[in-house]
Amino acid sequence: MEQIHEVASLRVRLAALRREGERIALVPTMGNLHEGHLALIDAARTLADRVVATIFVNPLQFGPGEDYAAYPRTLAADAKALSARGTDLLFAPPVLAMYPDGANLATIVSVSGLSRELCGAARPGHFDGVTTVVAKLFSLIGPDIAVFGRKDLQQLTLIKRMARDLSMPLEIRGVDTIRAPDGLALSSRNSYLSSEERSRAPLLAATLRRVADALADGSREFKTLETGAMDALMGAGFEPDYVSIRSSTDLAAPDTEADARDLVVLGAARLGKTRLIDNISPEPELP
Ligand code: PAF
Repeated sequence: MEQIHEVASLRVRLAALRREGERIALVPTMGNLHEGHLALIDAARTLADRVVATIFVNPLQFGPGEDYAAYPRTLAADAKALSARGTDLLFAPPVLAMYPDGANLATIVSVSGLSRELCGAARPGHFDGVTTVVAKLFSLIGPDIAVFGRKDLQQLTLIKRMARDLSMPLEIRGVDTIRAPDGLALSSRNSYLSSEERSRAPLLAATLRRVADALADGSREFKTLETGAMDALMGAGFEPDYVSIRSSTDLAAPDTEADARDLVVLGAARLGKTRLIDNISPEPELP
């Protein structure tokens, strides 16, 4: 696996691949890779000739007081794991290569509406930072397809919308969440959990699953289900930001007539100093 840290060499290398007619899949990450990320690489390999991964802890998507400085940076181990999974090229730029004029960009890519809701309400500016850096990566790399985890469903939905609105010439694919055997969605931030918190953390997924099961069983009492789940999480010592039932295609407020298969339950909650997010889709039994 080739490793590149500077934009000029990246452009030269990618131009050569494109001249050879190679189809390129991009997997953008912030590093500290786990099986969830590596599943994105596996998916990307089935979708293109060449897989480009990026590792960049993007300062623009962290708010004041968030974990930008503490975010685990494990480049050597990540490079080894990416190489073992068949990644062709790793782009891991320093901050200055991505933001030569500093983080005070005059141009920001911002998807209105949804980016201010759910996680966007608790983390103002976060999604503007995400869509801006992802737009930059698309512009630098020019992939045919880009692969993101469904665990960050709001992020995935916003990136799809950005790509459609700005006529970006690529396909965006979501890959299913990888979970620990006890149901906790894999996340780099799980490493912040104490062992006692780690044993309670699967309760977020279990709580969202109960709401999803109620939807699959036919309930459309959205508010009651959301409030019940928030209360359950608070009772277990979580500080929930939201539990929200949304339409699975665009995360808009759902129709009470909606089929359970078109709904998704999203949640975010703090456990100690760790903010966990997850989402679960109802799985109605086949008739
Ligand atoms: O999901 C992430 O790791 C990040 O938000 C992303 C998409 C790499 C942008 O920095």
